[in-house]
Amino acid sequence: MSIKLSARVQAVKPSPTLAITARAKALRAAGKDVIGLGAGEPDFDTPDHIKQAGIAAINDGFTKYTAVDGTPELKRAIIAKFQRDNGFEYKPEEILVSCGGKQSFYNMAQAILDPGDEVIIPAPYWVSYPDMVLLAGGAPVIVPAGIESGFKMNAAQLAAAITPQTRWLIFNSPSNPTGAGYSTSDLKALTDVLVENPHVWIMTDDMYEHIAYPPFAFRTPAEVEPRLMDRTLTVNGVSKAYAMTGWRIGYAGGPVPLIKAMTTIQGQSTSNACSISQWAAVEALDGPQDYIATSRAAFLRRRDLVVRLLNACSGIECPTPDGAFYVYPSIAGLIGKTTPSGAAIDTDADFARELLAAEGVAVVFGAAFGLSPNFRISYAAADEDLAEACARIGSFCESLT
Ligand SMILES: Cc1ncc(COP(=O)(O)O)c(C=O)c1O
Repeated sequence: MSIKLSARVQAVKPSPTLAITARAKALRAAGKDVIGLGAGEPDFDTPDHIKQAGIAAINDGFTKYTAVDGTPELKRAIIAKFQRDNGFEYKPEEILVSCGGKQSFYNMAQAILDPGDEVIIPAPYWVSYPDMVLLAGGAPVIVPAGIESGFKMNAAQLAAAITPQTRWLIFNSPSNPTGAGYSTSDLKALTDVLVENPHVWIMTDDMYEHIAYPPFAFRTPAEVEPRLMDRTLTVNGVSKAYAMTGWRIGYAGGPVPLIKAMTTIQGQSTSNACSISQWAAVEALDGPQDYIATSRAAFLRRRDLVVRLLNACSGIECPTPDGAFYVYPSIAGLIGKTTPSGAAIDTDADFARELLAAEGVAVVFGAAFGLSPNFRISYAAADEDLAEACARIGSFCESLT
């Protein structure tokens, strides 16, 4: 049966990270020994006190619609979090609670972009940014920031990308997929360019704020340059910080007219985020914070393990990330080689496909994130699985000729 699809949906592609996770699951279901390092979520369970808050919300009857933009209790907890961690003073009408940070960004794109509006996105980028811009009719302007610059865009690149049609800069530090973190001086260089260009707004995706490894210290752009506050949308959430990916709670802080417009989009699509999850998120933000330090220590140990093992593989160069739970090694040294079965490794997509087929290790190829030839590993996995996966990657690299 053929069905006519909208031009809108034909302009976007399905999320490649979700597709790879699904393929690894299918191979596992068919009996193959697969180590999946594609999914971008903590492997830890949601902390018990947060789960109990969700259970209590059900038992207490908080199972009805809430205000579209979030419960007063969760908004209060979010305002306190912004105050505590970032020194921001938001008011309730400057906050929108959504079904994940993903929806926060989607609401923003739908609320703001018209055809021809340009959005600057440094690459490698989180896979959803360009597609959400396209879905809203905007034009992504991709700025490559490769391994030689630590996967960070510099001020000259930003200045060169800005045109009169530029509406937004999309910013993410620590980054998915590279783990690169912008220092205070990196940020200052970029915010100086934005101060000079008052027509450009900034959406900062601070999802990995709490997964930052010393000496890197997380800062958000408007903290470094408060003059940007009235054109900054700060997106954050509980998914990565508290192992709550399935609960679907993200939030955004920004100027009232923007938050109002985003709330209108959300009100005509999903309405409020899950009432039960909102109560669990209150506990996550207000309750004991020890999970953050415990999980960060585990991620740091795994980062060091994976960086060491991957750098020992022939043809792979793996920089050490500042945060998040991803590495983004280069496979420039393997391009042009051939597998024992005769398959050519001409691209990072070839590498990921053949690695999965030969060794049962699922990784995401770099082209999905807009910068090649690389691949992404999520090291939010058991230490033994990471060691075994790196050993298999090493054997795969050795097998190429
Ligand atoms: C950079 C970044 N932003 C946003 C999200 C979305 O998170 P959520 O919708 O679960 O809040 C993710 C999840 O992978 C991410 O990596």
